[in-house]
Amino acid sequence: MKEKKMLIAGNWKMYPGTLSEAKKTFEGIKRTAAKLPYVQTVVCPPSVYIRDLTRMVSGHRCAVGAQNTFWEKEGAFTGEISPVQLADAKAKYVIIGHSERRALGETDEEVNGKVLAALRQGLSVILCVGETERDDDGTYTKFIATQVESALSGVSKNALSKLAIAYEPIWAIGKNALRPASAPDVVEVSILIRKVLSDMYGNAVAMGMPVLYGGSVDDRNAREFLEEGHVQGLLVGRASLNAPLFGRILETANEVMKSHIKK
Ligand code: PGA
Repeated sequence: MKEKKMLIAGNWKMYPGTLSEAKKTFEGIKRTAAKLPYVQTVVCPPSVYIRDLTRMVSGHRCAVGAQNTFWEKEGAFTGEISPVQLADAKAKYVIIGHSERRALGETDEEVNGKVLAALRQGLSVILCVGETERDDDGTYTKFIATQVESALSGVSKNALSKLAIAYEPIWAIGKNALRPASAPDVVEVSILIRKVLSDMYGNAVAMGMPVLYGGSVDDRNAREFLEEGHVQGLLVGRASLNAPLFGRILETANEVMKSHIKK
């Protein structure tokens, strides 16, 4: 894997309730992230907080991202936020195709439009894919393969250097999660994702793509995913709203990456 850093992104969802809490949590995360050379930390707050938090950024180790974007640059689209506006607010990353957005009706075609628009604007994209449930006949593998293929339709090979793919099985996400996925579950899907990428873009792209895991990650299971799940990062929901807890995940990722590099 060509990556020299783990990509650890926090998805704050629709929390916290106030800007002052957001700033306080971000300050704590930033302080830890600044000490970790082997981790690229990304915090994705609700969009109303993006500009305030990017003003607090110093250095490259901790960046701010958005949780969604629109596929047009501008226009009469009430309530939407364009990638141009995100870039102007100094967001560097954007999560696209999160299962909670897909559950609100976002289609594969819309995800594709958003990926294209965000990459065109120079944002780094964290594309989320993942099945609702695991069936015994393996239908979920076709479902994930289709999500990857359609999200990347029309995306050039060059643009892929700004993309990471997060595997987030829906049954493992949030308060009502059945359980976190296991490391073997994650290995299986990351191989599948690389196979799809290899068919679309060739082996070098497939092997170079950062694959992340997300779904009930915390400071107790992060190491297992990073070491045994063979992923290059994590997308963390609930645990990213707690600066000390998220900080421990960042430190774990730093240790794991450091030991990979030394091998
Ligand atoms: P969780 O959320 O870590 O709270 O399960 C993950 C996500 O939705 O990205």
